[in-house]
Amino acid sequence: MKKKPRRAVLPLIAVHRESARPLHRQIYDSFRAMILERRLQPGQQIPSSRTLAEELGISRIPVLSAYGQLLAEGYVESRAGAGTFITASLPDEFVSAAAPLAESQASRPMVTEDEPWFRGSGAFSVGQLAYDHFPFRAWSDLVTRHARRVRTSSMNYSDAMGLKAFREVIADYLRTARAVQCEASQIMIVNGSQHALSLSAHVLLERESAVWIEEPGYEFLRAALTLSGCRMIPVPVDSEGLDVTAGIALGANARAAYVTPSHQYPLGVTMSAARRLQLLEWAQKSGAWIVEDDYDSEYRYESMPIASLQGLDRGSRVIYIGTFSKTLFPSLRLGYMVIPAGLVDRFAAVRKATDLCPPHLYQAALADFMHEGHFARHIRKTRLLYAGRRSALVEALRNEFGGEIEILGAAAGMHLVVTLPPGFSDREIALRAAEEGLRLWPLSTSYAGAEVRQGFILGFGSTKAEEMAAQVRRLRLAIHGVGGHQKRSFRSFGRV
Ligand SMILES: Cc1ncc(COP(=O)(O)O)c(C=O)c1O
Repeated sequence: MKKKPRRAVLPLIAVHRESARPLHRQIYDSFRAMILERRLQPGQQIPSSRTLAEELGISRIPVLSAYGQLLAEGYVESRAGAGTFITASLPDEFVSAAAPLAESQASRPMVTEDEPWFRGSGAFSVGQLAYDHFPFRAWSDLVTRHARRVRTSSMNYSDAMGLKAFREVIADYLRTARAVQCEASQIMIVNGSQHALSLSAHVLLERESAVWIEEPGYEFLRAALTLSGCRMIPVPVDSEGLDVTAGIALGANARAAYVTPSHQYPLGVTMSAARRLQLLEWAQKSGAWIVEDDYDSEYRYESMPIASLQGLDRGSRVIYIGTFSKTLFPSLRLGYMVIPAGLVDRFAAVRKATDLCPPHLYQAALADFMHEGHFARHIRKTRLLYAGRRSALVEALRNEFGGEIEILGAAAGMHLVVTLPPGFSDREIALRAAEEGLRLWPLSTSYAGAEVRQGFILGFGSTKAEEMAAQVRRLRLAIHGVGGHQKRSFRSFGRV
């Protein structure tokens, strides 16, 4: 007997009227991502355009247009009198175009979705800072001063590595505050860490190069690596950071390892000294590179900042990356890398091929901002501020959830993680919570492999300490509001 097609379950699609992307494109993108990730299976029926339009509260026109596009591109097929179905045998190129990755990653999306946790600035949104505490006066005075002081040299193409004065002040800062071994000649100014991650992939990797990434890890790193066509090997993270022994077992000959040793993203673990040495020894012996993403190490609350991994490296195997996105503000798009002396020319050549050189104005303003002590003062001030916000969040979570939830990684940075028991869908809760203005980043999105933990990455940078208790109450309601079944099991779960 012929197998009956599965009924059309309403897929989880969020459309945002205020988004710059047209509705039909949002619907098309959502379906395409779900098909490529195999969340919608070949042969599965999708809802009629009328049903989906009603469910989304929009007209049928954008739905018909999205369906038409999916049909034209072969993602779906229509069967007369029966409905529309995911194409039974999707050509391989569809899957490989989205994920030229290790098998375990074929099920994970690239960072292309317009999900609510990527946008907006509601409570708990990750990457949001206390912008109202930024020293606007000092900053705008410096930017204005440099904007007025235009010289030929500041208008012309400049060094691919960045402005000399800026690189010098950064080298001083890194040697002192992060125990990084460096000269200004090794510093390259980049457009934020993301640019550095992507440049490092260009320089260090080839198609099919094996690369260790942390599991769970930073989604945007996976996006950058995907473009290089390398083969990512997700290596588990435990209470000491990346499990180097597991990495060696999974791929001893990997070309590079990408790590966040100061404050693992997202779990918040600090890599132990033993693991740091083991990782460096592996890299030294096998000729691999380590890329250290030191994205938020300025903020540590229970101890002194942890020295960089690069500072321990005796063999020049570490490429160190830092950013002003956490200490100042992300739209500045300024970061830096410290490149082993022997690789500087290769990085400079790739940089020239990419965008020639960084823009002048903000480099010059920030060099003075650092020279004049504003940067150090701002970090001292905000460290206390974020410490207060973090304590308020931890206390509110304990008051509201008691022993029901596990809190991870609260010792540093501007986010922590809470985990949910099996049976909960963090994505589903996050989508609904977004409608209430809560920006919950699902922990499951940080996993490249099939085995994921459900939970949330909660940013606390932009929420005032005195508002934390009320926001955590909203969080509890958001979690409990997702159906009776989840409510019951939530009450009964213990520490994970
Ligand atoms: C692991 C990690 N790396 C880097 C960054 C900063 O990225 P960028 O400097 O490109 O803004 C973040 C920001 O959230 C991050 O979580």
